[in-house]
Amino acid sequence: MRDPALETPDAGAVQIVRNVEDLRARLAAWRLGGARIALVPTMGALHAGHMSLVTAARENADKIVMSIFVNPTQFAPTEDFAAYPRSLEADAEKFASAGGDLVFAPATETMYPEGFATMLAPGGPAEAGLEDKFRPTHFAGVATIVAKLLVQCRPDAAVFGEKDYQQLMVVERLVRDLDFETRIVAAPIVREPDGLALSSRNVYLSADERARAPRLHAALARCAEEIRKGRAVVAALKSAKAFVGTAGFVTDYLEARHAETLAAIDSAADGPMRLLVAARLGRTRLIDNLPV
Ligand code: PAJ
Repeated sequence: MRDPALETPDAGAVQIVRNVEDLRARLAAWRLGGARIALVPTMGALHAGHMSLVTAARENADKIVMSIFVNPTQFAPTEDFAAYPRSLEADAEKFASAGGDLVFAPATETMYPEGFATMLAPGGPAEAGLEDKFRPTHFAGVATIVAKLLVQCRPDAAVFGEKDYQQLMVVERLVRDLDFETRIVAAPIVREPDGLALSSRNVYLSADERARAPRLHAALARCAEEIRKGRAVVAALKSAKAFVGTAGFVTDYLEARHAETLAAIDSAADGPMRLLVAARLGRTRLIDNLPV
């Protein structure tokens, strides 16, 4: 049953719906009017990177829905699920001022009701030995929640950032393998002027760590440049790892992969190449990537 108390009509021009029934009712009305719908899935704590996805959504649709849900199944017990920044009201206002139309912010019990027992088991790019090696349950959680969101919204397009490059590949494969009709749109990484990729987790960095954090991107940029100039991939990666280490990072991985399959490649001639890195600075884990 529709519960008007669960809607917030006064957060700018945007409404927040909390349950699937209200979401579907709203979307059905838009669809009847012929509107094309884009979904922007997020975990909130919105920054300019997320807002660039809204801009990309606008180019692909008439109505934009943003989901804001900190998805517990993609966090390991040791990770920052409880501490993950949550700011729904401020997020809804930002989304409204960017021209967004509807926020879907379900409760955990709405997405994972009592007795929930079905998780997807993504393979292929989800088993590339990158994020999955350090977060073995992560992509099952991502694939499951993204599949649920796509079924709940049935959007014409859904926008994902290249910031989480392996996630983007996993989602593209999910949509292909399970015949979702939604078109996946990829948006480029938004960075701070000093090169640091915007991330909701950047708020965890101390002032000193924040000053050193841009070296992650600098290392990738230099590595890509060297490979383009013909330096051996293995040697370029080794220098990049050393550079990241001197900035105080502990590197989980820094690798060159095929940009589409994520298979390991050791020559730029073997296909479009992408450099991908994950490294920890103090207690904060940062990821980044760059095309060669
Ligand atoms: P979240 O980390 O909130 O990111 C939401 C979307 O914003 C993702 O597609 C991510 O790649 C994109 N994004 C984040 N920082 C970006 C940046 N600096 N530039 C461009 N895009 C950026 O990714 C998730 O949430 C979740 O895993 C989710 C897909 C919502 C499933 O729970």
